[in-house]
Amino acid sequence: MHENVQDMIHRYLQQRAEMGEQVIYKPFDSEIPIVEPDIIAGDTVAIDNFESAENLDDLYSAICDCQKCALGQTRTRFVFGVGNPEADIMFVGEAPGAEEDRLGEPFVGRAGKLLDKILAAMKLSRDDVFIANILKCRPPNNRDPKPEEAQVCELYLHKQIQLIKPKIVCCLGRISAQRLLQTDMSLGKMRDKWFDYHGTLLTATYHPAALLRNPHFKRPTWEDMQKILKKLEELK
Ligand code: URA
Ligand code: URA
Repeated sequence: MHENVQDMIHRYLQQRAEMGEQVIYKPFDSEIPIVEPDIIAGDTVAIDNFESAENLDDLYSAICDCQKCALGQTRTRFVFGVGNPEADIMFVGEAPGAEEDRLGEPFVGRAGKLLDKILAAMKLSRDDVFIANILKCRPPNNRDPKPEEAQVCELYLHKQIQLIKPKIVCCLGRISAQRLLQTDMSLGKMRDKWFDYHGTLLTATYHPAALLRNPHFKRPTWEDMQKILKKLEELK
């Protein structure tokens, strides 16, 4: 006698699922795990379900094929963000640049190297914090994010913040801070202050690229970072 039909069907569907196909079939036998691949190219259902992601890996799978704005067509890599999934401090920049788009990681170009130095001065590394951007995809020619791009992408960032639960979000640069705080205040007015972002403490400092252009921003940036570390101590 051959193996029973149910086992055969299950094995067949499991193989299909392993090749990336969505499985609708639910085995009766509860010992057999249900295979539900969540990385399916062009699957908008997964993207609409990102809100239910329970961890960063699930969130990544749910949104990494996003085509909700036109940048989905021009990006090389989706730049999700990197770092400690339980970071106390989360840095939020503007958008991936050329190097980030190529490598799939935020802040890996010149500005990123400076951010690494700032972190080192704080006695932190990229593995201690979490680093992300307002946009997950590179805008062509590094233009500013468009409101409709930022609007969709901020939902993903907000979900990341909910999962990571950092004690402090630090916006890097005016664009990031203005977006998250829904304001047109200057960076000079926003830095050195604490805000509430959906229940998370948020502050802002200069973008590392601004420090490369204007070294006199280095001192106030360092003061901002020290205030962040002090605040973190107070919260412990
Ligand atoms: N600038 C940003 O705002 N983000 C990056 O990831 C790189 C440069
Ligand atoms: N303008 C910006 O966009 N960022 C800075 O950090 C400073 C000025």
